[in-house]
Amino acid sequence: MPKASSVEKSQSEIYHPSEEIKKSAHIKDFEKLYKHSIENREEFWADEAKKLSWYKKWNTVLDDSKKPFYKWFTGGKINIIDNAIDRHLKTAHRNKLAFIWEGEPGDVRTFSYHALDREVSKFANVLKSMGVRKGEIVTIYMPQVPELVFAMLACAKIGAAHSVVYGGFSVEALAGRIQDAQSRVLVTADGGWRRGKITDLKSIANEAMGRSATIEVCITVKRTDHDVYMENDRDFWYHELMGLPIASAECETEKTDAEDMLFILYTSGTTGQPKGLLHTHGGYSVYTSTTHKYVFDIKDEDRWWCAADPGWITGHSYIVYGPLINGATIMMYEGAPNHPYPNRWWQMIEKYGITILYTSPTAIRGLMRFGDQWPQRHNLSSLRLLGSVGEPINPEAWRWYHKIIGKEKCPIMDTWWQTETGGFMITPVPVMPLKPGSATKPFFGNEVAVVDEIGKEVKAGEEGKLVIKNPWPGMARTIHGDPDRYIDVYWKEYEKQGWYKAGDSARIDKDGYVWVIGRIDDVIKVSGYRLGTAEVESALVSHADVSEAATIALPHELKGNAIYAYVILRAGLNGDAQLEDALKKHVAHEIGPIARPESVTFVDSLPKTRSGKIMRRVLKARALGVDEGDLSTLEE
Ligand code: WTA
Repeated sequence: MPKASSVEKSQSEIYHPSEEIKKSAHIKDFEKLYKHSIENREEFWADEAKKLSWYKKWNTVLDDSKKPFYKWFTGGKINIIDNAIDRHLKTAHRNKLAFIWEGEPGDVRTFSYHALDREVSKFANVLKSMGVRKGEIVTIYMPQVPELVFAMLACAKIGAAHSVVYGGFSVEALAGRIQDAQSRVLVTADGGWRRGKITDLKSIANEAMGRSATIEVCITVKRTDHDVYMENDRDFWYHELMGLPIASAECETEKTDAEDMLFILYTSGTTGQPKGLLHTHGGYSVYTSTTHKYVFDIKDEDRWWCAADPGWITGHSYIVYGPLINGATIMMYEGAPNHPYPNRWWQMIEKYGITILYTSPTAIRGLMRFGDQWPQRHNLSSLRLLGSVGEPINPEAWRWYHKIIGKEKCPIMDTWWQTETGGFMITPVPVMPLKPGSATKPFFGNEVAVVDEIGKEVKAGEEGKLVIKNPWPGMARTIHGDPDRYIDVYWKEYEKQGWYKAGDSARIDKDGYVWVIGRIDDVIKVSGYRLGTAEVESALVSHADVSEAATIALPHELKGNAIYAYVILRAGLNGDAQLEDALKKHVAHEIGPIARPESVTFVDSLPKTRSGKIMRRVLKARALGVDEGDLSTLEE
């Protein structure tokens, strides 16, 4: 974690873009267009929307009659696939590489836009033959293989929605999401490659299907070819279905409404079950393509690599949808960055001539630790822009990324956003002067503030709660099946002002640069992945020996944060190293390896308020050896 002194230093450290960057950038005068976008928000977004292909133009740009359930481009008919694929087929883009994929063992597959269309259309027909209908939610649980992207796009094409569950999640996480979405169809794979080993997704999927009864059809991609259990009448092999006459390459794209559901994506919140944030065809298409184009200055000749997993919002918006709408060539890699050696990424950048790399601070810190010699063995001169997302980037990692990877010529776009926002909210554009560790300024159309409890803006440089003051086209429309929770979590606190509460704390400096500090709720960012304390605690108490559990996040050099658990055992039981290990394994089995606690401490009691709420901040203060603050509500 950044030390206070290094962050202070970085506040006065400024990096200016080169003349070359300024000359070629789409946005030359940020301030001018920003001012225009704020004064004429709807006109700005309508102008961007006009650049896309619509079956029918919208009647209203922004419908705010049912706040906070905003609607965008109502009356319009659009399908994201018409923009991400169909329209490219009518131009020279048809022959352009849409997709370069490298598997961890070194196998390579590439797809032109023409080939992408065939794969997607064929699988769309397979889904239709399984009875998948418009509005239905298909769950996708896959490793990072091309079929994951085809499955997402195929759902969108026929007007069904997808719910992608990150392939690193495990049984309970998958079962809960299937259940909440009431999915009838699951698309999965026998496994994927990670550090030379097989991740056995099909076994996890089988166990999850045992816990949630809604799945009638499971389609499995053969990736690793190890033995897996397939159930008669339920399980089908992807490649076998794709070989049948039903999988014709002719499939008409459904003419969906702008506000029709495109996908739901589950993300962790403060309490209870993860929430399925719902995004739609129209606004999301406009927002992801506009942000991607302007922030990463996308040109026809670019080779774009967003090294996230498609199972998270970063992958949805910036591996799949935004880049394909912009007709870019996307890169995807299946496995670990350091397999077989820590030069794996740098080797691929050189091999494929990647021009823009977008990744997370955790990945940068992880690769930095192996030393400069690994990237230095490769020619990285194709790179012209870099990006960061997921958590605050500490200035040390920023400087290394800038100097060793970007050779001091690639501006770093530090993009702040959330599953809820659909796309970048606070981010530089390439012509902007940069300060390491700051996501700089709000994107076009957006106004943000840092405020106190009652919504008063705090002074420059002071910490407060980050709010967004306006609606934007990429915003999630609701939480699937729970609109009240959508209001409660995001809109209740600043209801009077009509602001969106991000759940992060931040500072804005005297130059108007935003410095995001981190979550202020019980959401933990581990290696940039979002987890809720509630989920980890519920996994812990599902173990037979545990009666109560509390989890907190503590700073971790590589992961940003790590999970620390405090556990009360059932009467008569004593904790030892063996049980600690068993509990860690149990959490990994239920949620996934990313949720595995760093340590489990056995305690006799937990600090609670009189109303019985666990005071995690007290646990955290004790663990860090700092002042425990106001203890007046503590029960004992
Ligand atoms: C954090 C990921 C600082 C933040 C796209 C936010 C960041 C949460 C940044 C959302 C950044 C994301 N600087 N913090 N550039 N980007 N965050 O939904 O705490 O997985 O609220 O979306 O990640 O996480 P999510």
